[in-house]
Amino acid sequence: MIRRLEAQAAAARALAYAPYSHFAVGAALLGKDGKIYTGCNIENASYPAGNCAERTAVFKAVSEGCREFEALAIAGGPEVGDKLTLCTPCGICRQVLREFCPPEFPIYFSDGQGGFRMMTLSELLPESFGPESL
Ligand code: THU
Repeated sequence: MIRRLEAQAAAARALAYAPYSHFAVGAALLGKDGKIYTGCNIENASYPAGNCAERTAVFKAVSEGCREFEALAIAGGPEVGDKLTLCTPCGICRQVLREFCPPEFPIYFSDGQGGFRMMTLSELLPESFGPESL
């Protein structure tokens, strides 16, 4: 299943709208409902209005009624060509994942060496602030 998730993340890159950075990212989020929610980055002429692939996937899932997740895969790299580079989730996406996912939640990201590496959410976002902090 993880290999399938990685493949779907790589495929989702094809839909990235990245005319400013030319860096295309795809994400594939496995819901506990068994569905895979994909996302891509969507940039904007007003740069801060752009959205990352990971948040696109999370927001799609939550807006369709899925709030619990098993794993996430992320594939990123220059939009020209198939080469994937190192692509860990940005800080904002880590925080958005923190809202819905447990500390041990596995995040697979392209490692820039032809494969994927896994880190847990708590490794990527230690000592974090979440729903139970309020
Ligand atoms: N980006 C993502 O979509 N996810 C990441 O994990 C890293 C960065 C996007 C944001 C922006 O559209 C482009 O990649 C360059 O930062």
